[in-house]
Amino acid sequence: MGKTWPHGLALLAAVLLCACGQAPQPPGPADVERAERARPADARLAQRYEQACVLCHARPDSGAPLSHHAPSWSARLERGLPALVQSVQAGKGGMPAGGLCADCSPQDLESLTRFMSGPTP
Ligand code: HEC
Repeated sequence: MGKTWPHGLALLAAVLLCACGQAPQPPGPADVERAERARPADARLAQRYEQACVLCHARPDSGAPLSHHAPSWSARLERGLPALVQSVQAGKGGMPAGGLCADCSPQDLESLTRFMSGPTP
């Protein structure tokens, strides 16, 4: 028993390290502030972002991955951008189909997803 304990600790540490994919490091106030402020460079996309996506994606308590917060996106991005865009089109969990953007084209949703899941512009 006494001998297996250090292994137990090592295992626990490994599990905690690996768990970051499933339970991302929670964003802090500075991350939230950045997400609230940042907008796509393109004015038309910025307007769509402001009327839809930012309502949830700048609020960690909504359950949405925070815009530009890398730990919130890394596991999702591993599935590839097209899969993420597909989720927005179809809706997922607390996100309604189209992400509340009625006049977003599939191309808009892809650009917005790229913007949100990437670093702060
Ligand atoms: C009403 C709140 C809400 C709005 C508005 C919203 N989202 Fe989301 N979004 C969520 C939530 C909640 C999730 C997490 C869903 C889950 O994994 O269960 C999410 C997840 C995502 C994901 C990851 C999907 C995946 O498969 O992991 C992308 C990409 C995304 N949103 C893009 C957008 C875009 C682009 C917009 C604006 C057009 C938008 N969202 C608007 C709530 C919202």
